[in-house]
Amino acid sequence: MLTGLVRDCKKADPVSDRPTFWVLNGPNLNMLGTREPAVYGRETLDDIERACGAAAGAAGFGLDFRQSNGEGELVGWVQQARGAAAAVIVNAGAYTHTSVALHDALRLLDVPVVEVHLSNVFAREPFRHHSYVSPLALGVICGFGGHGYVLAIEALARRLSGATAR
Ligand code: DQA
Repeated sequence: MLTGLVRDCKKADPVSDRPTFWVLNGPNLNMLGTREPAVYGRETLDDIERACGAAAGAAGFGLDFRQSNGEGELVGWVQQARGAAAAVIVNAGAYTHTSVALHDALRLLDVPVVEVHLSNVFAREPFRHHSYVSPLALGVICGFGGHGYVLAIEALARRLSGATAR
């Protein structure tokens, strides 16, 4: 059961003093694999976490990968990320389109935020076109399924290593 659990990422990344990317997943993303596969694919959140662990490790970063169905829990995690995360990757699920609380929490961060969506939200219903996360994000990646998370990690690793200006 993934919901609300902080996954033990030290197993995936035993080098504990590495700067760490926090990946925060919102509601219903624990159902990936069986949830609307025509929209979200067959990959599970565990599959995505494994891919993220490999990508972060290869770039020299640790990974803290979490999922919650609760808006308050996600807000709490964003607050905890202050001073703990080198960067935050967030797929807030439906809260992307509704949560002023999450927006306000993300405003507290002084590290880069990347917004990820598995689906291309702009090719879907109009209510998915607005995001409370995007104004606070360095970049937004959507439409590439679980690979979008890996792209976010690679982009952040380049940015934080100073390998590219953008
Ligand atoms: C999503 C897109 C959201 O609109 C939706 O509510 C989700 C998943 C995505 O990853 O494509 O739960 O964030």
